[in-house]
This record gives sequence, structure tokens and C-alpha cells, in this order.
Amino acid sequence: MKSPFFSLQVLAAQPGRRVGARDVVESVLAEVRAGHLPAGGRLPPVRVLERQLGLSKNTVQAAYDELVARGVLETREREGVFVAKGPEAAPFAGPKAVPRLPRLRAVPSMFRKPPPPGAIALSTVLVDPALLPRERVADCIRSVLRVPGMQPLYDFQGHPHLRELVAARLRARGMDVSAGEVITTVGSQQALDIVARATDVRRIALENPVYAHARCLFESHDLKLTPLPLDPFGAIDFDRWERLLEAERPGLVYAITSFQNPTGYSYRTHELVRLLELAERLEFSLLEDDWGSDMLSDSEMRPSLRALGGENVLYVNSFTKKLLPSLRVGFIVAPESLVPTLVAQKRLSTLGSPWLPEAALAEFLDRGYYDSHLASLHDALDERYRHCLETLRELMPEEVRWTTPGGGPTLWLDFPKRVALKELARALLARGVYVEDSESAFFGEAHLNGFRVSYAYVPEPELRRALERVAEEARRALAEPGHAHTAVP
Ligand SMILES: Cc1ncc(COP(=O)(O)O)c(C=O)c1O
Repeated sequence: MKSPFFSLQVLAAQPGRRVGARDVVESVLAEVRAGHLPAGGRLPPVRVLERQLGLSKNTVQAAYDELVARGVLETREREGVFVAKGPEAAPFAGPKAVPRLPRLRAVPSMFRKPPPPGAIALSTVLVDPALLPRERVADCIRSVLRVPGMQPLYDFQGHPHLRELVAARLRARGMDVSAGEVITTVGSQQALDIVARATDVRRIALENPVYAHARCLFESHDLKLTPLPLDPFGAIDFDRWERLLEAERPGLVYAITSFQNPTGYSYRTHELVRLLELAERLEFSLLEDDWGSDMLSDSEMRPSLRALGGENVLYVNSFTKKLLPSLRVGFIVAPESLVPTLVAQKRLSTLGSPWLPEAALAEFLDRGYYDSHLASLHDALDERYRHCLETLRELMPEEVRWTTPGGGPTLWLDFPKRVALKELARALLARGVYVEDSESAFFGEAHLNGFRVSYAYVPEPELRRALERVAEEARRALAEPGHAHTAVP
């Protein structure tokens, strides 16, 4: 491999005059004298210097020839022109000083290791790739790439036609939304990030347990958090929520209203209404994360905070889990008065929207593929969900319970407190079943003791195998006399 050349600046001996061969000679001599061009150092190739200085090849060659004749430079066959003296070519050594690494702020860490290869990923929120329409997405990508004169500029707010299609879909779900209120994002995670950057609220309330990456994100923006306890086996204790909200006065409540991650809980309609009433009385804003709503069993739909509460509810959602996670298209819906600031925040982190996934998604929606895909996805998930419940009923010890979300990708499986979750997870891993540690989803001591079970990701025979092992290990743990009380800390 060739060594990199030392870059050379050639200045005219007399200001205002054009650079010529003499100036090349003088500049090289000056650099060599000053030690900036060490023995063995490679000079710019003739064609590079010729282009750089706008000189003819002959002029540069003549300058180099003269320097070779004076013994300052030497030519090596097929390698280039080097500073003479010293048999050893001094490879480009780079600067001696080693810069300090920048200090990074610690990220509240909740990034788990991926499941070990071969293990059944029992707790993932992803959907089985076999249920996703990869070929049809590929068709749409090919098709939009063939359109001549494709969008040459960045879309700051997001692909305009996609925003129209998203708004139309939301209108069909009872939300009065126009394309001007939609901002596309890289997954709903970026939507949450944009809101977190843009808001001047300093305290956010959120469910406990909650989607851990949202918690981590808010903490990394130095936002104070007010956890609102959520018991997925009961109803929301609004009297308690009200006391907490009154005491801590968050400016914003972040709520995952459908198939809450990690519990699978969905707000009942009167609970949405109660939250809206509280928002009005205690003067906080609402950020609704509706990630699961179009994974409702039987292709049904339910009201959302945005539908009931109108345009002041900030709303985020995404196509990632339901379509192809790697497309990473999500969006925020916000009243037009907030759009310029939110878009400005988006521009600060990504400049513009990635055109290709957004254009391909617009094409996918236009062709009606998304609706037909959702219909078959619902059928498959409904079937898997039914199997999952049957298997749990058949296999699990009496004291183990689970939520019944009736949609979404996962349910929550919960064990009596005397089952040590970490030990259970270790025993399962040894048997090829990976369950995620939900520790970071909880604030303080966890009031639940379990993990997500993904019937959306794990196909039926495998799911059964995994649940058999869970049931066996749970039985073992429950049978151990005096088993330590070591719930999730
Ligand atoms: C509740 C919730 N919101 C948002 C996200 C972010 O998803 P994405 O960025 O893939 O759209 C997730 C991911 O799992 C989630 O569970």
C-alpha cells in the first residue's frame, strides 16, 4: 500500500504573482529546511499538485526534476517522489501528541445484551419476521427508486405524501389530524427524543413500570420523573395518581395507553377521560404513545387520548414493529403552532428525513398493502395469542398469573414474590430461553415480579417449548422451602 503524501502549500514568491515552477522548488526547499518534510516523506504526486495549483504537468515535473537534480528529492519506481537522504522511507507517522478522549456523560444504562444466539427470545417486543411483508416492502423500495428526478432535497417535516396518508389513517381512527400536524421521525423513539428536547417542562410523570427506553431518554435529558403506579391486574388508582400529580406537579404526563410496555395494560375509555380531566384541572400536558393501537385483536379499534382530547394531546406512533423494524418510520402529531419548533429540533439531530424509507412506506400505504398486511397480521397474532393463553392455562402453576391484553405483541407473566426472578432467568438461559430483566422499567421496589412473553415473536411450537421450561423452573422455585424473598430489586 502507498504511504500517504505530505500535503504541500505552494505560495508565490511575490504576492500577486501567479505560482510557477520556481515557487514549487522554493516551497519544497523551505519545508525540508524547516523539518516539515522529513527524509523519506512522500511528496504529492505530480498529477495531484498539477490539479491543486492549476499548473501544467510539465511545470510541476520540471520543478520536481530540478529538486531531484539538486539531491533534495528522489524518485522511486512506481512509488512516487520522496524527500531524499536516508535509505529508510519514513512512513507517515502522524502527530506525536495523542489527544484526550472527550469525556462522555453516563447514559442511564438500560441497554441489555441481545439474546444469545440460538436462545428463544421470549420477552422481545418485536414481531416474528416471518409475519412481516418483506417482499412487498422490497417492491415498493424498487419502485420508488425507479421514479426519475426523485426528491433531491431534504424534507424537514417529513415526506409530504406520507404525512397526508398518515393523517388520513388517523382521521379514520377518530383523530382530527391534518398533514401539516404530522412530523415524521426515525421510529417513535426519535419522536420522544424530539419532544424531550423541545419541551421546557422539567418534570414528566409516567407509568411505573414503563417502557424503559423512554425513562432512560427522559433521564438523559435531565428531566425529573414522577412514577405513577400501574397495576395491570387491577385498574388505575386515579386517587393515588391525583395525589402524586398534585404533590409533584409535572408539566407533562407520558402515557402508553394501548398495550402498555411492559405490562400489556390498556386504558379503559373512562380512564382516558379521567386523565384528560386531571390534565385540565392540574394543568399538565399529555404525550400519548400509541405504539400498540393497530395491533388490536380482530382489527378493532378503541378511542385514544388524542381522539378524545383533541389537538392539544401530543401523539406519537410508529410503523416499525408492525411493518419492518429496519425501516424505522415513526411520527409525532402536534398542533401546528408547535410544529416549527419540533421540526427545528428534528433538523438539529437529523437535518432531514431519510427519503427512501418514507417514500417506500408512502408507496406501501398507497397500494393498500398496509391494510391487507395488518389484516393478516391481526389474524396471525390473534391465533398466536389464543394458543399462548391456552398453553399458559395448561402449564403454569396455580400461583402464576398473566395479563390478558387481547392484542399487542406481548403479555406480562407474573410470579409470586418468593420466586427469585434473576435466578429464574439464569436457569432459563441455561435451558436456551432468554427472558429480559425488567428492572429498569420499575422505579423503586418493583410491585410486579415477572417478564414479558412475546407471542408475536416466538412461533407456536417454540413458544410452547419455552413456556414448558418456564413452568418447570417456576415450579422448582416455588417448591424450594424458605426460598429467599428476592423480587426484582
Ligand atoms: C411503548 C414504546 N414506545 C416507543 C417505542 C419505540 O419504538 P420505535 O422507535 O421502534 O418506533 C417502543 C419500542 O419498543 C415502545 O415499546
